[in-house]
Amino acid sequence: MACTTPGHPLRTPTLATVDGTTPSLRMVVLRAVQPEAYALVFHTDTRSAKWTQLDENPAASVLTWDPEQQIQMRFSGQITRHAPGSELANSAWDQLPPHTKETYAGAAPGGALEATSGTGKNAFGVLIFTAQTLDWLRLSRDGNTRALVDLATARMDWVAP
Ligand SMILES: Cc1cc2nc3c(=O)[nH]c(=O)nc-3n(C[C@H](O)[C@H](O)[C@H](O)COP(=O)(O)O)c2cc1C
Repeated sequence: MACTTPGHPLRTPTLATVDGTTPSLRMVVLRAVQPEAYALVFHTDTRSAKWTQLDENPAASVLTWDPEQQIQMRFSGQITRHAPGSELANSAWDQLPPHTKETYAGAAPGGALEATSGTGKNAFGVLIFTAQTLDWLRLSRDGNTRALVDLATARMDWVAP
């Protein structure tokens, strides 16, 4: 599984949110997959820009590249935020190793280096990305192939790459 295998290329996808009218991208660690819901689970600091952006607009996109399989996947969907103190954030926090907990105890991401407020668990949030569409592309010397999938209706169309 990508989310439990360090170094797996699908373990660090790119997550895009919307900052006003501007796309905002960053890499995140894939923490879990909920295949039946087409959902991906991420952890983040609730003082980060993405948390605020998602409050204003839950639209998101996730991009992966598997160099072995030569497959790009681009998902689009929506994110549900689970704030500090929520059941999901609490249970995820309890399973984090100490060194990961440490990363939430410092200054706010993007804030002044000296500004610390002893946050830790109070700044830990869980993001659940639920995909609605998948744009799947495989590169091959025999010919590239691309499919567009509507996950809600399970409709798939082969299209020109
Ligand atoms: C390989 C890698 C993995 C990362 N994993 C996460 C993550 O799981 N969660 C997270 O919030 N930021 C993660 N980051 C940091 C983000 O890419 C980003 O710099 C940070 O979250 C601030 O983003 P924002 O200001 O757009 O919210 C990771 C960065 C790298 C390079």
